[in-house]
Amino acid sequence: MMSFLDLAKRRYATKKYDNVKKVSAEQIEELKEIIRLSPSSINSQPWKFTFVTNEVVKKELASKSYMNENSINDVSLLVVFSVMDDIEHFEQRNISILPELWRTAFYEPIVKANGDIATKSWMENQVYLSLGYFLSACISMGLDATPMEGIDRSAYKEILAQDGFSPLFAVTVGYADKTDWAHPTVLPKSRFELDEVVQSI
Ligand SMILES: Cc1cc2nc3c(=O)[nH]c(=O)nc-3n(C[C@H](O)[C@H](O)[C@H](O)COP(=O)(O)O)c2cc1C
Repeated sequence: MMSFLDLAKRRYATKKYDNVKKVSAEQIEELKEIIRLSPSSINSQPWKFTFVTNEVVKKELASKSYMNENSINDVSLLVVFSVMDDIEHFEQRNISILPELWRTAFYEPIVKANGDIATKSWMENQVYLSLGYFLSACISMGLDATPMEGIDRSAYKEILAQDGFSPLFAVTVGYADKTDWAHPTVLPKSRFELDEVVQSI
């Protein structure tokens, strides 16, 4: 079995997908179960994950995805990550069911006390966390994936007719095309040196 470090070296933001080799229905079901289990602060789960395989809808979304259009059209699965819109609804649905202490000793004094903008930003942080988790899951299943903030969020919201949720970013999942110039064997990973980003005390 490949170590996590090996997987980290192998995964990369795929720019060109194989448009023949498709993610299987079983793999899609497994990814759905995995993303549902994503962790979040106080288990707040302020998210919705939309798995798009419908070609018509996917094409429409691709047309609202700037430089990502071609890769979305080549790939068979696009997952859209959205955050809950309404803080009041979030508190009723997600926060009220938590252990009392999580609300009174954490959510209210540490999150909500900072105001609506900070609370919304904290909710979005939870969705971004699930992105990291999802990207790791994909490569562990031998799937290539690309996170995409380069999407028109309001067009996505309209196309998906999402009520109460707003798209933040999308992820394509599939198999990289052999000619992809971004593949790490062609374009080596670019990162700051370990000493610059990791501190040991
Ligand atoms: C939140 C987020 C948004 C991104 N948006 C895009 C995007 O819209 N299009 C794209 O081609 N790559 C996008 N990327 C990929 C990054 O450019 C890439 O992860 C980074 O350059 C590091 O390269 P690597 O992932 O191949 O190691 C995004 C990455 C993240 C984490």
